[in-house]
Amino acid sequence: MESIKYNTYKQSESVPDDQIISAAELYCRIWKEEPWNEDWTVDRATKKLLNILSHDDSLLILGISDNKVRGFVSGKSISLKNLDKRTKKSLKDVIDSNDIYSIAEIGVDSSCRGQGLGKKLLGGLIDQVITKNKDAKFVSHTDTKAESAKRLYENLGFRDTNILDSSLPTHTYWVR
Ligand SMILES: CC(C)(COP(=O)(O)OP(=O)(O)OC[C@H]1O[C@@H](n2cnc3c(N)ncnc32)[C@H](O)[C@@H]1OP(=O)(O)O)[C@@H](O)C(=O)NCCC(=O)NCCS
Repeated sequence: MESIKYNTYKQSESVPDDQIISAAELYCRIWKEEPWNEDWTVDRATKKLLNILSHDDSLLILGISDNKVRGFVSGKSISLKNLDKRTKKSLKDVIDSNDIYSIAEIGVDSSCRGQGLGKKLLGGLIDQVITKNKDAKFVSHTDTKAESAKRLYENLGFRDTNILDSSLPTHTYWVR
């Protein structure tokens, strides 16, 4: 496999069709796995990924090799007020800031995991946000059973707040 190239798309930028479809196909494969067990169609996944780019300060980074998307990460700014609508308990005591950046989606093709691609994608996104705003705080949530995601977040300086998502009872919020 050729080495991975990273393409970054910012708010309102258009993503070439072949890249967004390849990302959407990967999205469908990833969320079918345990512990997610979600059933996505390429069409819905395409809309979901493109929808991210309609939000404030949004970013989508694709890791591509041999014309196939091998990993993606996306994120956007979010207010504490909107974040608190999603959690069982307010995050204000752990993330007292108005400059909050939410990691929306991260995934790596199962055949490419454990080689640092997730770290490159998420680390790259964090670097781009911090370059614009050095005070930015980051938030994400994940399933308590998603061991590799939790390890990735820990490696990049996130900590588990143990604060639960309101609608996903097995998800806790991680902050950095
Ligand atoms: C989470 C994910 C993006 C990580 O991608 P990746 O390219 O494998 O990430 P990296 O190689 O940079 O790092 C993965 C870390 O998890 C560790 N890991 C892998 N499987 C693990 C497991 N079962 N238990 C604990 N740690 C595990 C790796 O050893 C590595 O940590 P290390 O560098 O300290 O050794 C990828 O596993 C994935 O797509 N998972 C499914 C989707 C998902 O969980 N997304 C996050 C939802 S919020």
